[in-house]
Amino acid sequence: MERIRIAVWFLLVVAIYAPLVVAKTTEKYIAVGHYDFPYFSNHDLGTKNSSITKLVLVIHGIGRNAIDYYNLLYGIAQTANTLSKTAIVAPHFLCPSDNPKPPSHVLSFSCDGWLQGLASVNTNKIYSFTALDQLLTAGVAAFPHLTEILVAGHSAGGQTVQRYGASTTKGKTEVLGTPVKYVAANPGTYMYLDNKRVAHPAHQHLKSLCPAPGGNECHLTASDFVGPYWNADSCPGYNDGKYGLGKPEGYIASVGRDAVIHQFPKSNFTYLLGDLDTQLGNALDVSCEANATGYYRKQRGLIWEKYLYLTQKVSPTTQVFHIVPGCGHNDTCMFQSAAFLAEMNS
Ligand SMILES: *[C@@H]1O[C@H](CO)[C@@H](O)[C@H](O)[C@H]1NC(C)=O
Ligand SMILES: *[C@@H]1O[C@H](CO)[C@@H](O)[C@H](O)[C@H]1NC(C)=O
Ligand SMILES: *[C@@H]1O[C@H](CO)[C@@H](O)[C@H](O)[C@H]1NC(C)=O
Ligand SMILES: *[C@@H]1O[C@H](CO)[C@@H](O)[C@H](O)[C@H]1NC(C)=O
Repeated sequence: MERIRIAVWFLLVVAIYAPLVVAKTTEKYIAVGHYDFPYFSNHDLGTKNSSITKLVLVIHGIGRNAIDYYNLLYGIAQTANTLSKTAIVAPHFLCPSDNPKPPSHVLSFSCDGWLQGLASVNTNKIYSFTALDQLLTAGVAAFPHLTEILVAGHSAGGQTVQRYGASTTKGKTEVLGTPVKYVAANPGTYMYLDNKRVAHPAHQHLKSLCPAPGGNECHLTASDFVGPYWNADSCPGYNDGKYGLGKPEGYIASVGRDAVIHQFPKSNFTYLLGDLDTQLGNALDVSCEANATGYYRKQRGLIWEKYLYLTQKVSPTTQVFHIVPGCGHNDTCMFQSAAFLAEMNS
């Protein structure tokens, strides 16, 4: 009896602590123009497969450790028993200072340019977002029974998802013929659509208003968003580069500001905000441009939510926000949350 009990305990302990069996995969390449772009995947996007019904594109963070995100999502699909119908695709943005240096036929991007759609250093004609477009287009061609596409990222990956999802001309339901949803987890900054930011009096009270004590809501109204930013004189770039549509560059300039403003509110987004992602650190952007939108990731997300709903006519059913309990700035915690699993398993 005792021996059986010990054996059962042993099995339980092994089941809990055994590491997830991780897929062995090698880097694959997709052609973009005359260049190659690397990605990890359990399926080659050049090979047709009619078992696949879901494509999950997962974008790495500032560490550009694509393989870790591939393995994380692979493990999640495996645990959910959905791996046989799921293609996990993890693009890998290289940068010129990488060691080893990317070969000349492989696309590379400035180390912070890839997350805002800037041009490749190989050629000024291929943008980082063009490579993402190419992966989605190839995925739709490879998987004829696809029913949903999820494009997800955490932190810098979440920023990429927000900017790419806002501006893409190819990654749209109407173009791909398959519903696309964008999931941005804990982005540090957002690309605003106009020059409105939290007005001075509300900005002074962000601590007490946002979130209000005991809740997860920022008590802001439409009149709390005013343009131009009250502190613009000392922060003239607050609406440029990756922070807004003031002076679009790269892919976003090629699409055009008006097109982005027109399409973004109709795109399907889920924003996941870690309840405990309230600290400075983890490479949080604390520039004046970023601080204009709030002081830490969770607060910036809650302010972005109000900005979208109150000033941009975004519907709360099209772009949904979830606070993820128990998670700080932790990709594993965020992607293993009930809110993300619901997206993976829908
Ligand atoms: C298609 O995908 C299924 C499930 O992932 C796999 O078992 C099968 O071998 C694939 N077929 C081809 C032709 O690659
Ligand atoms: C957003 O999702 C809804 C519901 O799934 C779908 O009907 C709609 O076409 C989607 N919109 C876009 C722009 O993809
Ligand atoms: C942004 O805010 C943080 C505190 O939340 C502060 O440490 C940092 O200096 C601020 N940045 C600027 C440019 O003032
Ligand atoms: C991140 O979250 C995972 C899953 O909740 C947890 O096991 C891990 O310890 C966390 N990492 C850190 C650094 O807190």
